[in-house]
Amino acid sequence: MTNFLCFRYNLNLYKTKKNMLPLKEAIAEKHSLAEKMPFNQRMFKGELSKEEYILYLSQQLAIFDSIEKDELPHPSLNRSRKVYEDIKELMELENGESIHIKPLDTTNEYRKYLNGLSKEEKLPHVYLNYLAIMFGGQMMKANVPGSGKMYEFEGDIREIAGSIRAIQKDEWADEANKALDFNINILDELQNVSESARIEAEGDGGEGA
Ligand code: HEM
Repeated sequence: MTNFLCFRYNLNLYKTKKNMLPLKEAIAEKHSLAEKMPFNQRMFKGELSKEEYILYLSQQLAIFDSIEKDELPHPSLNRSRKVYEDIKELMELENGESIHIKPLDTTNEYRKYLNGLSKEEKLPHVYLNYLAIMFGGQMMKANVPGSGKMYEFEGDIREIAGSIRAIQKDEWADEANKALDFNINILDELQNVSESARIEAEGDGGEGA
């Protein structure tokens, strides 16, 4: 009986590997969920206030900072400095003035997770977070406050994206989907913060009227 179960188990493993979906298809369902998150939709339609977008950028900075502790497949992928420049521009900071970022709880959860991964284990998160900026992000650039340096890459963008394409594996599906889950949670918390702020502002307005 044990042998039979063992045999079936091995057979299933073989089948799973052989029938593995291409990575892009394996993340399609959760990508669609992420795309439809209300905060993302508002960003896409150019409806975020400057403050809301700064809060979003702060989460991006916290994520990129964790990932970029290790070397990326291409030096032009590095985003931390670009995101920092965007925040500086939007907050109208003078040179030398520093910013203090307090990541949201969901971002801290993702950072904690990322910080426990090796350079190799982080690669599906590189795929997910950096191609996100290179694809959907390019459509965001025109609709967000400020000049959107986060979406600008120095050099040939095909070559830069190609450095991820060259190493990506279908076996990354579970980890890339996990990365999407973390991102979905962050987008959800961002929307909750926006709604709480709106309700508070309406409350203040009501009292003053
Ligand atoms: C309104 C929001 C979004 C839009 C409009 C959007 C749109 C797109 C589009 C058009 C592509 C290219 C698909 C193709 O090759 O035909 C793409 C790819 C991708 N997006 Fe998004 N996206 C959005 C949000 C996100 C988010 C939140 C993430 C993750 C944080 C993400 C991660 C990715 C990844 C990893 C790819 C590359 C998939 C692959 O080709 O392997 N996207 N997106």
